[in-house]
Amino acid sequence: MSQYQIAVIVGSLRKDSINRKLADAVTRLAPAEFTFRHSRIDDLPLYDQDDDGNQADTVKRLKSEISSADGVVFVTSEYNRSIPGVLKNAIDNASRPYGQSAFAGKPAGVLGASIGSIGTAISQQHLRGVLAYLDMPTLGQPEVFIHVKDGFFDDKGNVTSEGTRKFLQGWVDKYVDWVRKHSGK
Ligand code: FNR
Repeated sequence: MSQYQIAVIVGSLRKDSINRKLADAVTRLAPAEFTFRHSRIDDLPLYDQDDDGNQADTVKRLKSEISSADGVVFVTSEYNRSIPGVLKNAIDNASRPYGQSAFAGKPAGVLGASIGSIGTAISQQHLRGVLAYLDMPTLGQPEVFIHVKDGFFDDKGNVTSEGTRKFLQGWVDKYVDWVRKHSGK
């Protein structure tokens, strides 16, 4: 039986998102006591502070999924050298009202894939600054900057390169230890 529940937030809404594929490929590598569940962010309202006292049901749902999780994995694309707006919007929604953030203390992991050669490094760096402010202990190493070219995934969504699979396995091993250490279980 699974002892650790991890919320996965993908910073792309696109059906064929390479970041969603990366998220699924990586979470398949985790041990059996870890369960990963995608949290929807495509149906959230644009964050408006006037709604803090009356948050939408979709925001409450996201906050509840994060609050009940033992950790949060962010798998993000890079838009114009930063975090996609949809991801920042989700974070802003679930971090409010002030003092009622869903994120505080949750051990975080950050990964990303792009068709550009720096593999979302700048987006991830911006995200790490946000997560520090949210008081999330965030795994520092290894950094996962994936440059996706044709053939990176097979038709089942598996990573084709054995070297990259081993690298991602190393990340998963570190992240699950990070969650065990910080979750207090
Ligand atoms: C991009 N892309 C991109 N790539 C990158 O490496 N750095 C960047 O700054 C940007 N900027 C950017 C802006 C916008 C608006 C789009 C639509 C795209 C390309 C991006 O890596 C590519 O579209 C990925 O496929 C996006 O990830 P998903 O949606 O496939 O997960």
